Amino acid sequence: MQILDAKDNGQFLPELARALHEEWGAEQGYTFEETLEWCRDVAASTVETILVAVEADQFVGTASLVENDLGEPTEYTPWLASLWIDPAQRKKGIASRLVTAIEELAHSQGHEELFLFCVEGTLPDFYERLGWQKREQIVNLGRRCRIMSRNLVK
Ligand SMILES: CC(C)(COP(=O)(O)OP(=O)(O)OC[C@H]1O[C@@H](n2cnc3c(N)ncnc32)[C@H](O)[C@@H]1OP(=O)(O)O)[C@@H](O)C(=O)NCCC(=O)NCCS
Repeated sequence: MQILDAKDNGQFLPELARALHEEWGAEQGYTFEETLEWCRDVAASTVETILVAVEADQFVGTASLVENDLGEPTEYTPWLASLWIDPAQRKKGIASRLVTAIEELAHSQGHEELFLFCVEGTLPDFYERLGWQKREQIVNLGRRCRIMSRNLVK
C-alpha cells in the first residue's frame, strides 16, 4: 500500500470525490461537481493536502490536511479531515496509517497541534487509541460530535 499526494496523482480525484460525496457531501447539500471542485482545490493548494492510499493502482482510501474543517471560524488549525477507507478495505490498518501520515505532514510544516472532529460513538475511542485527546463536544448537522486534538511535539 502506498500513500500518495493527490497533487501529483490527479487521476484518483474523481473516485475520491465520489466517495466523499456519498459519505458527506450529498447530505451537506453539495452536488458531486462541487465536491470534486473542493477536492481539486485542496489538492492544488500550497497549504492544504489530500493524501490517497493506493493498493495495486487502485484507490482504497483518503485523508486530508486542511486549515479549517469546522465550517465556522475557529482558533484551532490545522485539521485532519475527510478520512475515508473503501468498505472492502477496512480493518486492515489503512486509516491508522493515513492518520499517521497526516500527523507527520502537519509536524513537518511546523505545527505543534492537529485537530479533528468526529461523531460521538466509537470513533473518538478509535482516535484515542492513536494518541488523540478528547476536547469539547459540538453539534454538527444535528449530530453530537467531539473535537479531538493531537500533540505533535515529540
Ligand atoms: C473509520 C474508518 C476510517 C476506519 O478505517 P480502517 O482502515 O478500517 O481503520 P483501521 O483499520 O486503521 O482501524 C480500525 C480498526 O481496525 C483494527 N485493525 C487495524 N489493523 C487491523 C488488521 N490488520 N486486521 C484487523 N483489524 C485491524 C484497529 O484496531 C481498529 O480497531 P478499533 O476501531 O477497535 O480501534 C473507516 O471505517 C471509514 O472510512 N468509515 C467511514 C468514514 C468515517 O467515518 N470516517 C471518519 C471521519 S471522522
